[in-house]
Amino acid sequence: MPNNLDASFYATTPIFYVNDAPHIGHAYTEVAADVLTRWHRQRGEDAFLLTGTDEHGEKILRTAAANKVEPQAWVDKLVHDAWLPLLNTIDIDNQDFIRTTEPRHEKNVQKFLQHLYDKGFIYRGEFVGNYCVGCEEYKTEGDLIDGEGDFAGQAVCAIHSKPVEKLHETNYFFKLSEFQQPLLDFYAANPKFIQPESARNEVVSFVRRGLEDLSISRSKEKFDWGIDIPWDDSHITYVWFDALLNYITAIGYGEDEAAFEKRWPASVQIVGKDILRFHAVIWPAMLMAADLPTPKQVFGHGWLLVGGEKMSKSKLTGIAPHQITDTFGSDAFRYYFMKAIAFGSDGSFSWEDLSARYQSELANGFGNLASRVIAMIHRYFDGTLPASGPDTEAELEIQKIAADAVAAADAAIDDVAIHEAIAQVWTLVDALNGYITVQEPWVLAKDEATRERLATVLYTTAEGLRALSVLLSPVVPKATAKLWSALAAQSLGDLADRPIREAADWGQLPAGAKIAELEPLFPRIEQDAETK
Ligand code: ME8
Ligand code: MG
Repeated sequence: MPNNLDASFYATTPIFYVNDAPHIGHAYTEVAADVLTRWHRQRGEDAFLLTGTDEHGEKILRTAAANKVEPQAWVDKLVHDAWLPLLNTIDIDNQDFIRTTEPRHEKNVQKFLQHLYDKGFIYRGEFVGNYCVGCEEYKTEGDLIDGEGDFAGQAVCAIHSKPVEKLHETNYFFKLSEFQQPLLDFYAANPKFIQPESARNEVVSFVRRGLEDLSISRSKEKFDWGIDIPWDDSHITYVWFDALLNYITAIGYGEDEAAFEKRWPASVQIVGKDILRFHAVIWPAMLMAADLPTPKQVFGHGWLLVGGEKMSKSKLTGIAPHQITDTFGSDAFRYYFMKAIAFGSDGSFSWEDLSARYQSELANGFGNLASRVIAMIHRYFDGTLPASGPDTEAELEIQKIAADAVAAADAAIDDVAIHEAIAQVWTLVDALNGYITVQEPWVLAKDEATRERLATVLYTTAEGLRALSVLLSPVVPKATAKLWSALAAQSLGDLADRPIREAADWGQLPAGAKIAELEPLFPRIEQDAETK
């Protein structure tokens, strides 16, 4: 048995702008990072998930002003009314939540800046160029397209379709250009640093074209919602420079070196591909400049699309996560987005697809399997788990499928191929359903002579459900917890930390266990609710 107890796993999500409430795109990132973290915890690792909110910058200041409130009041309200509740809605088990307006962040961003300034990586210069407030990003001419409608004749941001701001100000610059070669060397030496492959290629060719120094401050004459530059309080820190540092300020950078060294570097930083360059270019360069280790991996996932376009807050195409969970529940939300979209690729959400998969995969495939097995143990053995008789080929085949599923799913998680991990686990769901069809326990039950066979079949299926509970717990924690307790499996320990790699070790459920009743794991959804 591999011992990972000393291994630590640190996953992060982006910290989201609190200019508006979350939509299912943000929830998607959260769920992916949560599934990975739960999986690693079930490998016995000390697993830590960080998420949080990005609260400074011009975009948020303007939103607050448009709503006639102070920015701090605005972000406090959104965090408490929308962003923290999101974590409950989709059942995220995060170990910390960082807000960039917290002292532990602001203070240590300043420490980091001062450190880079003292090392000579920051200088004062003139910035002339374009800025998109929607992206909170400096734009080159090549990033702009011709506007349409109200903005015809103007150059607009290709992402937000709105005109960019022309800036001419004295700013502080980070010597990003000095890191072109170090970054290229780093990518070459660490081929898994940027994943998936398409994302890696995009970043490598971007860096090969050359890097310009990055303006990392804005003059307070323009706006002042941000962290003061420590050596010049007429400037505030560029919001991205501030935001990226959350990944280290949350875990003790500048304050608690022991805690920081225990967690850093991050194992995997999950981001949408829209913000991959910040994470795969600027962020490792910042860390290199500070002589800090770079994260082990940055994974840029695809977009949830609506009508072929990225779902977004600014284009008002967002679907609120609770619209889905109110009807289908958090488990179905988690399962659907992780299974239906290859992680790394774009995907279109549709109510029809969600509904169809809920019914066929969760309700009929998994839920019904669980209900039937538990009901038969009640019907034929009075709710007491029978001892298995000798295994035949059929039982050995199930055990092998389970062992193969564990190995393949676990390997898929190492590749951050969450959809593939679930597909591998599902081979056991399908095999158990097939096994029941072939073994016909209801026929075995008719004859006292086949009583031992009946016991073997029900024990085998119960063991299969035990293994599935362990393997699916990271994805559908609520349903598997119900199943775990119906199987009286608490005697084996808490489901949330049952070792993944021991899931297929057969014969763990003790014969004689009192099996409880099980309500449907994925109840039928009324038709009108499906298509609201
Ligand atoms: O960029 N499909 O915050 P943000 C999939 N504050 N994922 C989506 C999505 C979609 N349609 N829309 C959003 C920021 N996301 C910065 C990050 S990190 C130091 C600072 C997810 O509120 C996805 O993870 O604009 C994307 O990268 C992120 O939300 C952007 O969130
Ligand atoms: Mg955005």
